[in-house]
Amino acid sequence: MARYAATTGAGIVSVPLTATFAHDLDGMLAKIGPSTGLVYVCNPNNPTASLTPRKDLETFISKMPPNCRVLIDEAYHHFVDPSASYVSFLDHPIDDERVIVMRTYSKVYGMAGLRLGYGVTSPALAKQMNTFMTSGSVNAVVVRAGVTNGLVTDVVRSYAILATWTIAAWLIAARVVMRRR
Ligand SMILES: Cc1ncc(COP(=O)(O)O)c(C=O)c1O
Repeated sequence: MARYAATTGAGIVSVPLTATFAHDLDGMLAKIGPSTGLVYVCNPNNPTASLTPRKDLETFISKMPPNCRVLIDEAYHHFVDPSASYVSFLDHPIDDERVIVMRTYSKVYGMAGLRLGYGVTSPALAKQMNTFMTSGSVNAVVVRAGVTNGLVTDVVRSYAILATWTIAAWLIAARVVMRRR
């Protein structure tokens, strides 16, 4: 993710993990400056599997400057039992517009490589982020996989049906053209 952000010209500041391979929240806070736009926290962490306690994360967020957002990557959420040390920010949100929670269907639904996932945040931030969304970022085959697994909403389902028919029409047209050759 840092590499991807760097290609857009963003300055990246990396903070090493602690001796127990966990996020160093104090170290991260110390590195946040007035121009820090986004902090990334992977919880549960990949690849070290460490858990960042909910209490510590809430304290961390409360100390972030107002313009800084935090992306909490919960890609591995389904592999952890909720406890005092792990509480999802999606299942139990806090009232803070700066929090973005990210999940993916790659892991628990065995859809690795299809790149179907979602983010949840405040309406204000979602609106801001939508301006950077590329059209067709989720392709028709992936949407179909999401529909088959019952993961996507009716709106996306309609898109998938339309997309499937469009693909079918293209395949039929291609076959007709090939036969004529
Ligand atoms: C921590 C973490 N977040 C996000 C992702 C992205 O998942 P995907 O692009 O497959 O939806 C991965 C993929 O391996 C991951 O390990």
